[in-house]
Amino acid sequence: MNTNKASTVSLLALTAFLAASLLLANTSMAEEAYDADQFGPEEPIVWTTPTKATFTHKTHTMDAGLACDACHDEIFAMEQGATEKEGDFTMTSFKAGKYCGTCHDGNTAFDAASQCGSCHSAPETPIIFTYPVKAVSFEHSIHLNKGGLACETCHKDVFAMKKGAIEEAEQSNTGSENKREYLEKLHNKYCGTCHDSSKAFGYLTRCTVCHIGVKGYDSLQGGEQKNKEHGESKH
Ligand code: HEC
Ligand code: HEC
Ligand code: HEC
Ligand code: HEC
Ligand code: HEC
Ligand code: HEC
Repeated sequence: MNTNKASTVSLLALTAFLAASLLLANTSMAEEAYDADQFGPEEPIVWTTPTKATFTHKTHTMDAGLACDACHDEIFAMEQGATEKEGDFTMTSFKAGKYCGTCHDGNTAFDAASQCGSCHSAPETPIIFTYPVKAVSFEHSIHLNKGGLACETCHKDVFAMKKGAIEEAEQSNTGSENKREYLEKLHNKYCGTCHDSSKAFGYLTRCTVCHIGVKGYDSLQGGEQKNKEHGESKH
């Protein structure tokens, strides 16, 4: 009897102790709200030109344990927008060990030549090519979600991360060589690196899936509503 009572008491004590420590853990977690003085600005720093990229202090200071002077002021001025004005805030500079590339070299931190999606985000609206034919539609969401592709599968060798790059590169080519040969080359160089009937549907089989035509272009310009009426799920 006595031993039973004793164990009930100690069980109660244990429960009370656990409850108290949970409470304590909760309050100390609340006290650990992000401290901007200690870790730098809480708001992410976002660049928009020429491409959108994002930097967060928290992941570098609080999480990775870097001190302010790991970056300020040798690598970056403590002023948003200052680096952009230098005129060489580019991937090429990173590769040469400047700016983000001081650490993002695959050694101190992941290589900036990989994991594009950690710093960049894909456009949410489709990219429409209109030169020289109207119009070809490319949607990132289909390729990222349904296709399960990483940014690097396209943005390392196949496409620049810049709208209009293919069209610019091809403007000088049209009308040259044998037409059929040129078309095959054009498709093989870009979309056809995957749309070859093996990695994805072949470009020789379903022209109109990509070539939405003038009508498709007009309906895209007409807004989302029209697309929904066509019953095509866009996401
Ligand atoms: C890993 C590099 C890195 C570390 C470490 C770092 N910062 Fe920064 N910080 C940046 C970058 C990049 C910018 C933006 C510079 C630019 O746009 O040219 C910046 C900008 C700032 C700004 C200006 C924000 C604004 O809106 O103008 C402040 C303030 C700042 N940092 C404070 C800190 C403090 C405090 C610490 C240490 C707790 C710290 N930083 C650690 C990279 C870093
Ligand atoms: C002083 C060194 C240093 C510099 C400079 C630096 N980083 Fe980092 N970064 C790190 C370290 C260390 C980590 C954590 C380890 C890792 O993820 O490889 C990290 C991680 C990251 C992550 C992943 C965070 C996450 O979500 O887990 C991103 C994104 C990032 N850095 C972006 C940038 C950008 C953009 C710049 C330039 C504006 C930059 N970093 C400059 C050291 C640096
Ligand atoms: C560690 C972060 C980080 C990673 C990883 C990263 N970038 Fe960047 N990138 C930046 C920052 C910061 C800028 C400069 C500001 C801007 O243009 O938004 C930039 C600029 C660019 C630009 C425009 C300027 C230029 O260099 O021509 C392109 C294009 C680009 N990145 C492509 C890529 C591709 C492709 C990948 C993956 C292979 C990649 N980036 C990976 C941070 C990163
Ligand atoms: C299946 C191929 C493919 C994949 C995967 C892909 N992209 Fe793209 N991306 C493109 C094409 C094509 C363009 C347009 C190039 C052109 O116009 O020459 C583009 C353009 C861009 C642009 C420029 C948009 C503009 O308005 O200038 C950004 C930013 C971008 N991609 C980011 C990403 C990011 C981040 C990821 C990964 C999360 C990603 N992309 C994955 C094919 C791809
Ligand atoms: C890195 C490989 C890769 C590249 C490059 C690529 N795609 Fe795709 N694409 C895929 C995969 C994977 C799918 C999903 C599987 C499928 O539909 O065959 C897909 C699906 C599509 C779809 C959706 C088809 C449907 O049935 O809804 C369209 C449209 C499309 N791609 C257009 C393009 C265009 C336009 C380009 C060039 C600007 C391109 N893709 C470049 C891999 C790629
Ligand atoms: C996977 C997507 C995709 C498929 C499928 C596809 N194309 Fe294309 N096509 C493109 C892209 C991207 C361009 C270049 C951008 C533009 O012209 O707007 C292009 C351009 C063209 C051009 C213009 C080239 C020039 O310089 O004159 C013609 C013509 C063309 N395609 C015909 C076809 C035919 C015919 C088929 C079917 C047998 C086909 N395409 C299937 C993506 C595709």
